[in-house]
Amino acid sequence: MNAPGGPLVEVIADEDWAAVVTSAADGLLDDGRPQRWCLATGATPRPLYRQWAERLDLSAVEVVLLDEWIGLDADDPGRCAAMLHHDLVEPMPEQRRPTVTAIDVDAPLDPQWPGPLDLAVVGLGANGHVGMNEPGTAPDSPTRRVDLAETTAAGALRYGARRRPTGGVTVGLGPLQQARRVWVIVTGDHKAGIVERALNGPETTDVPASLLRSHPAVTWWLDHSAAGRL
Ligand code: PGA
Repeated sequence: MNAPGGPLVEVIADEDWAAVVTSAADGLLDDGRPQRWCLATGATPRPLYRQWAERLDLSAVEVVLLDEWIGLDADDPGRCAAMLHHDLVEPMPEQRRPTVTAIDVDAPLDPQWPGPLDLAVVGLGANGHVGMNEPGTAPDSPTRRVDLAETTAAGALRYGARRRPTGGVTVGLGPLQQARRVWVIVTGDHKAGIVERALNGPETTDVPASLLRSHPAVTWWLDHSAAGRL
């Protein structure tokens, strides 16, 4: 549980960030019981997942994707499922790999998907989004198909996508609020301004990440660069 008055904010030296967050994740795996973790993909978790692949035994974990693009080919390397496999699953020895449940963007969507979560690891978009919950998203939003902000769609090209996605599917803020624990991971000085707005500004749908401040067990794992304006 967090101290009254706000979310737990951990500020870590840039060079130690991935190792510290990895140790915290390892601590959640102690008893070997089955768990379901919802994981972001993209640039921020890449160094983290490299360490998870080296150090963690995720064989009791079902990983579900936080979001997925619409409009990319099944074999596009920029798909979130492809990034998760490339960054986390493939580098792990087989016996320590999690099971992975991807998002079928063509199937009917359950608004409460993926159901109970032990942990949700989410990044922070430059526009304050969480997953693909863009500015304007309601705090109790379901899992659903979404239109993407310009900067979000362009992000897919940075991740190596062959074309611009036409939309996305994201776990909603509603199911994320129900997770037992939420970790917001943010690195780099290019995120310092939006971190400051998300943590010190008003809780507003204009900055969807600010709405996670009210989660009873949220931790913001920031490196010094991302925390530079707090
Ligand atoms: P990034 O994306 O980790 O690639 O910076 C974060 C996000 O847009 O949620």
